[in-house]
Amino acid sequence: ERTETATMIAAHELLKKFYHHLLMHTNEGEEALSYLLHRGFTREIIEQFEIGYALPSWNAAVTFLTNKGFSLSLMEQAGLIVKKSGEDSYFDRFRHRIMFPIHNHHGETVAFSGRALGNEDPKYLNSPETPIFNKRNILYHFHEARVPMRQKQQVVLFEGFADVIAAVQAGISHAVATMGTALSEEQARMLRRNASSVIVCYDGDRAGIDAALRASETLMEAGCYVKVAMIPDGLDPDEYVRKYGADRFRHHVLDASLSLTAFKLEYLKRGRHLQNESERLRYIEEAVQEISRLSNAIEADYYLRQLADEFSISMDALREQMTLHGKKQQ
Ligand code: UTP
Ligand code: MN
Ligand code: MN
Ligand code: MN
Ligand code: MN
Repeated sequence: ERTETATMIAAHELLKKFYHHLLMHTNEGEEALSYLLHRGFTREIIEQFEIGYALPSWNAAVTFLTNKGFSLSLMEQAGLIVKKSGEDSYFDRFRHRIMFPIHNHHGETVAFSGRALGNEDPKYLNSPETPIFNKRNILYHFHEARVPMRQKQQVVLFEGFADVIAAVQAGISHAVATMGTALSEEQARMLRRNASSVIVCYDGDRAGIDAALRASETLMEAGCYVKVAMIPDGLDPDEYVRKYGADRFRHHVLDASLSLTAFKLEYLKRGRHLQNESERLRYIEEAVQEISRLSNAIEADYYLRQLADEFSISMDALREQMTLHGKKQQ
């Protein structure tokens, strides 16, 4: 006798293989496969991540699961199919989507995320919360990343599936992602237990930067040593890797990642014309304000000194300005 959760996992494992087969070896899967190949995913990486394709059908999964002997009401609880309201019949949740299997920390398949091939909404359709899938406790690719994470005592945290896959393809195996939700305390602790330092490498757009700042706070509270990577030109990490290559990504993005304070100071510069005197003064003012929030005096002094050197201002003037801010905050 299998428990209900074991049965749910078994269904996910079988469906994962079915979706993968459809993508790799059928005519129906050709459009999805060519989409992935055009995005720069190799066949090897598609195999490694067991990516699949769900047919544009209302009952392909229902039929598949029925033939394998699964109870449809249990499959509904597992999030794989949906019950028609007021009727005793079911339809497929995932239709005409590229299927990314999601694994728990044992490596068992517990959920899917399905990406639209075009611009349909939502771009990614995720499994709902189920007895085997709790978003707060799961990070994409955590199971595979765990050993390299422990060895390096470092992990690279991304926003999306495509970013993790592009990183792994580029030889960066200690890579994980959240799945469209803010990083939870549980996820931060999962990372902390396996690595001392985290590089937050979110999208280079406004939303990504804001999310990176929030994730960094959560990670610091969990005791991680945090660095933040800056992706230029509003690019996603996967776009950057494909445009500039793995080597440049390593050296110009990961190795160049900044402490949270340095990242904030860099971010304050964005869109500013620092050759303009009044904009430069405004930047320095805001930078001092940011530094005055630091509780560690040595750290504060360190960043003040950098600011002093960068803009040829005396440390005395900066310290005096910071004291003013300190008083205002009290
Ligand atoms: P993004 O919008 O940055 O997507 O959302 P992406 O990963 O760059 O996707 P591509 O490159 O266009 O394929 C980041 C993450 O947020 C979640 C997904 O996990 C996605 O990877 N998300 C996004 C959803 O869950 N649903 C959505 O509709 C969109
Ligand atoms: Mn195969
Ligand atoms: Mn984004
Ligand atoms: Mn992207
Ligand atoms: Mn993105």
